[in-house]
Amino acid sequence: MTEKDFLPKNYENLPQKGTSTWKAPSNIALVKYWGKRPIQIPANPSISFTLDTCATTTTITFDKKKNTGDFSFELLFEGKPKEDFKPKIVTFFERVEAYLPFLKDYHFTIETSNSFPHSSGIASSASGMAALSLCLMDIEKMMVPEMDQTFFNTKASFLARLGSGSACRSVEGPLIEFGVHDHIPGSSDLFGVPYPFVVDEVFTTFQDTILLVHKGEKQVSSTVGHQLMHGHPYARNRFEQALQNMDALKPIFAHGDLEGFIKLVESEALILHAMMMTSMPYFMLMKPATLEIIHKIWKYREATKVPVCFTLDAGANVHLLYPDHVKERVHQFIDDQLAKHCENGHYIHDRVGLGAQKINS
Ligand code: DP6
Repeated sequence: MTEKDFLPKNYENLPQKGTSTWKAPSNIALVKYWGKRPIQIPANPSISFTLDTCATTTTITFDKKKNTGDFSFELLFEGKPKEDFKPKIVTFFERVEAYLPFLKDYHFTIETSNSFPHSSGIASSASGMAALSLCLMDIEKMMVPEMDQTFFNTKASFLARLGSGSACRSVEGPLIEFGVHDHIPGSSDLFGVPYPFVVDEVFTTFQDTILLVHKGEKQVSSTVGHQLMHGHPYARNRFEQALQNMDALKPIFAHGDLEGFIKLVESEALILHAMMMTSMPYFMLMKPATLEIIHKIWKYREATKVPVCFTLDAGANVHLLYPDHVKERVHQFIDDQLAKHCENGHYIHDRVGLGAQKINS
């Protein structure tokens, strides 16, 4: 599919008003997306587990208005007006307007809230942009009732990508791939696709406990980090390596190879942070507690052979990944050894999920 496939034909009837609510989950990348070119085209393919508990719920209420050539919307975050989110929404509306040409015909009230605590250091751009895109697709579906479910999901993912790259992996689950890869049929730089190969059950019930090491704002945004991959001395090798890691995952997923999974996933996490540390200007998002936790995981795994590993996103928090069948032992390990490294002892138990859900009012 190309961008053109997402341009709608003329709408037959525009509804006067209505409302739509979607809950979209966060996701955690196993092979990381880090580096992009305009507009929101990834430098390498990535793949993530869709999460379940960490999610954004968004309600859009829309009222037809005279098209005065401007976007008209108000934004409420957790019930209160949130002016500082507005520029991001305006940029998003500008990017998607060609694909949703009704945007200037309505006044929108966008109400959004997260299941995870505010300023937990968990990025809400993926779940937030996915939830918003799904609500907008609901409105388009009212104008194009014959639209099928596959197109609905694909276009929602396409729109979400234009808001935030990783958001395109938050529409469906449990494993979503984003970015062209010659060996992955259907893969695209424009939207996420459900991973098309065999995945052993052990991975579809995987657990993810997010250890909240640092809840504050991070010093460098993902957007800036992506930019720093331009002219980065290791970029070319990194992008090549991501392609190879996507290939390496195929037998790992098919055979439930936990050892192979651990090696690949931890390596990807450290490479992501190595890219940050070797950018110019260089930066570091890990904190001392991030490293304490990583060393404790290695020591625990060596001593117990429990297949638990870590990954990191663009921040100091640690995602602890483990199969469902070792859940009790890992929860004990967290309480005994890891919780003390978390800010106020906070962590969130999450697991692999199946994707966004429409909420009926
Ligand atoms: C480290 O999707 O947040 O989490 O497209 O600029 O919004 P933008 O970036 P974003 O980047 C995600 C970076 C990452 C890795 C990943 O999720 O693949």
